[in-house]
Amino acid sequence: MLSKEDLQKDLHTRVIGRRLFVFESIDSTNACARTLAEAGAEEGSVVIADFQTNGRGRQGRAWKADPNVNLLFSVLLRPELKRGSAGLLTFFAAVSVARAIEKTSGCSIECKWPNDLLLNGKKICGILLENSLEKEALAYSVVGIGLNVNQKNFRDDLRKASSLSRELGAPLSRDRLFQELVRQMDELYPPVRKSQFDSILIEWNARCRMFGKEVTVAQDKRHISGTAVALEPDGGLRINTPSGPETVYAGDVTVVSS
Ligand code: BTN
Repeated sequence: MLSKEDLQKDLHTRVIGRRLFVFESIDSTNACARTLAEAGAEEGSVVIADFQTNGRGRQGRAWKADPNVNLLFSVLLRPELKRGSAGLLTFFAAVSVARAIEKTSGCSIECKWPNDLLLNGKKICGILLENSLEKEALAYSVVGIGLNVNQKNFRDDLRKASSLSRELGAPLSRDRLFQELVRQMDELYPPVRKSQFDSILIEWNARCRMFGKEVTVAQDKRHISGTAVALEPDGGLRINTPSGPETVYAGDVTVVSS
């Protein structure tokens, strides 16, 4: 089981993880972090749990993860961002997680638009960004991270899901991985606070293998097919479709061909 003492031992970060709330079981760390945010909790506070009874995923889906083997946590941020830049926090989280995994285990992580991380083509991490806006500015953001660390089995309908230990063939220390992740976030955060995402987007791009490939983006009511061309500076995905270029901001991407 996770313990606050072990997770914070020798952490020494400036902002991220200075306040840590650890639960054995909780409905959703994102829900808890939002409640804390509304009550005025300080920036960088982290809520982490060994198990979630009502874990939330993107597009209204559930995030189900076995107890005591994964990293399920949410980070509260209060950067001064305009509405149009708030979504870029996803890329900040993705690059932080990718860096931490690579540093801890030596493998190469792929970033998949908009907010998945893959290892050997399998999804090992999902990010759920929940932003609270006040007029044209971001009031706070909760960055939820679900990282499959040592989970052995996945439901049949999650054929493309896996965990780090399954792909790497050996279990990993959740404490070590969490600490590295928090350190990477803390290191990358100062420019983000000032709305400077350039180097993060460059790094994210370097880990994305989707460009130049045929993709289909499934949204609630429509599917968009075409060639994935580039990541826009505002985080949108530019696609060349048969009827012209289009930029999408949400949806599930399937790579149809290479
Ligand atoms: C996705 O759909 O890919 C995003 C999944 C995000 C899951 C994490 S687990 C920790 C945090 N708390 C939640 O309820 N969801 C996020």
